[in-house]
Amino acid sequence: MSDLRIALLANLKINAPQGREEPRDRWAELDSERTVEAIAAALRQAGHKVTFMEGDESLYGRLERGHFDIAFNICEGHRGDSRESHVPAMLEMLGIPYTGSKVLCLALTLDKPMAKRVLAFHGLPTPAFQVFDNPDEPLDPSLSYPLFVKPVGEGTGRGINGNSVVRDEQELRCQLRWLIGTYGQAALVEQFIEGREITVGLLGNERLHVLPPLEVDLSRCPPEEGGIYTGRIKSELPDSPLYVCPAALTETQVQELGQLAVGAFRALGCLDVARVDFKLDAHEGDKPYILEVNPLPGLSPGVSDLVFEAEAEGMSHPELINAILNAALERYPELAKKAQAELVLAAVS
Ligand SMILES: Nc1ncnc2c1ncn2[C@@H]1O[C@H](COP(=O)(O)OP(=O)(O)O)[C@@H](O)[C@H]1O
Ligand SMILES: [Mg+2]
Repeated sequence: MSDLRIALLANLKINAPQGREEPRDRWAELDSERTVEAIAAALRQAGHKVTFMEGDESLYGRLERGHFDIAFNICEGHRGDSRESHVPAMLEMLGIPYTGSKVLCLALTLDKPMAKRVLAFHGLPTPAFQVFDNPDEPLDPSLSYPLFVKPVGEGTGRGINGNSVVRDEQELRCQLRWLIGTYGQAALVEQFIEGREITVGLLGNERLHVLPPLEVDLSRCPPEEGGIYTGRIKSELPDSPLYVCPAALTETQVQELGQLAVGAFRALGCLDVARVDFKLDAHEGDKPYILEVNPLPGLSPGVSDLVFEAEAEGMSHPELINAILNAALERYPELAKKAQAELVLAAVS
């Protein structure tokens, strides 16, 4: 399929709004120019016309005037607890097709406790948890130390550091005070799952392709990170873990992880692409627990987990990007037909 007019929509770190007194990792989730250039190159390589646009509040007018066939959306959004769904909402209002998950899924997965409630409803394993709106609320007696403290609505390890694992009341209260104060949002306190860190990528829709699981081996990371995949490792020390793909797992484990990942993708209403993060509980015979579902997984060449997973089965970065686009096109048959017709015209002229 070729010759579509594609709006490539992202939020670049260099375009992030400047505010005072913000946490150092405020814009950690946003993309680099390098990533966006690589995605644009991949789409152009497949014959499409690509225009990059920053996904900010001025986007609406530019989209309206742009006459695009489809948007390739990787916007993380700038502000608010449904920020990942802002650009898809604009696209919905304008009737422009787009790649990836829609408004409800993006808002839901950014709210980790809500997403966990939906996973639990579907019988999918996710660590037991409690939400703290303020640091002094009593701890649910069904939870036991060690516990894990993280923000309810962040990604890329924001608010996650070597102190996120808490072993007693004092550590819990201290981390809750810091987290709620620094990030201005409620804290999600989960049962701490000690064990291997595995992530599983998915591509497609009705036919869902499970990529080989990737293990993030944190054993060589600085000890102060506490064996956790912290924000510092993700943003500042991405070369310190070992990314092992395919992970050393038995066929049965791979199948179970795949089934759980597919179950989570469907339960949360993901489309085209997602990555599901797991911990395997070493104290429960490596029982897998779903930590979260990422419907906007990183797509940076040579950096992002999903890109490593695709490469492990011989899919290059440009192929991965076009697989995401093609998964979306299957959902918009009129668009796929148009692209096909233009391909035929180009061949005969
Ligand atoms: N309940 C938990 N038990 C053990 N480790 C956890 C738990 N929750 C998160 N972590 C650690 O923190 C990392 C980031 O957590 P995650 O919920 O995936 O947030 P993010 O959106 O920042 O990736 C995980 O990859 C894992 O290393
Ligand atoms: Mg994660």
